[in-house]
Amino acid sequence: MKDRDSRMNGLGRFFGVGVGPGDPELLTLKALRVLQESPVICMPKKGEHSRSYALSIVSSYLDPARQELLELVFPMKRDLDLLPTYWRAATDEIIVRLRAGRDVAFITEGDPLLFGTFIYVYDLLRQAEPSVAIEIVPGVSSVNASAASALLPLATTSDRLAIVPASYALEELSDILQRFDTVVLLKVNDVFDRVLDILESLSLTDRAVYVRRCTSPQEEIVRDVRTLRGQKLDYLSQVIVRK
Ligand SMILES: C[S@@+](CC[C@H](N)C(=O)[O-])C[C@H]1O[C@@H](n2cnc3c(N)ncnc32)[C@H](O)[C@@H]1O
Repeated sequence: MKDRDSRMNGLGRFFGVGVGPGDPELLTLKALRVLQESPVICMPKKGEHSRSYALSIVSSYLDPARQELLELVFPMKRDLDLLPTYWRAATDEIIVRLRAGRDVAFITEGDPLLFGTFIYVYDLLRQAEPSVAIEIVPGVSSVNASAASALLPLATTSDRLAIVPASYALEELSDILQRFDTVVLLKVNDVFDRVLDILESLSLTDRAVYVRRCTSPQEEIVRDVRTLRGQKLDYLSQVIVRK
């Protein structure tokens, strides 16, 4: 297997491990093996005092007596001057451990290559240590899992599917909603009322389903999205619009 044989230069191996959207049963067998074999498990969290959602998904499979649980702070900000400082600090912490010959598994909710902080660390790490062996273990993304929870097909035959970070795409959203058959809106919580305005203007409100914390015990599915206007919504929520 590639990840067993790829150790080089005495460096530990770096794994990006998707742990799925919430239900631990949606971990892949490979993710489980890599997590249990890695001496260092690192995880993103929003602030010093917050808890990593990814860790909550896998914590029962880890052994803190044997494994180092390294929490890395990535603030939920858009400040592109500030954020690279955190990405670099996190990458430095990881490199110290890889240079000591220890494998490091970086866990992310959902899939690591879909809108994750993992991607910034991965890029910096490859620049700083080009010879480090890296493997990505894909995870069940919240897009797939939310569609499953909502019992909504994402696409058939010739359908076009768009996955859009709503808070970055309000200007183009009306256009996107008209051009695609299914639109999945991530990062929707802070802009939900404006999204609702756009859906109403296109008579698409009845085609939208809101999904919060899919597959976790806190999962919530709302089919009449108008009832959510004015509410404070969870960051881990999305809207699927299926025409
Ligand atoms: C930074 S992206 C991470 C996506 C993740 N890597 C994935 O593959 O699902 C965060 C956004 O994904 C969506 N999300 C992540 N987990 C979710 C969940 N369990 N239920 C619903 N939406 C979720 C939300 O829209 C959230 O704002």
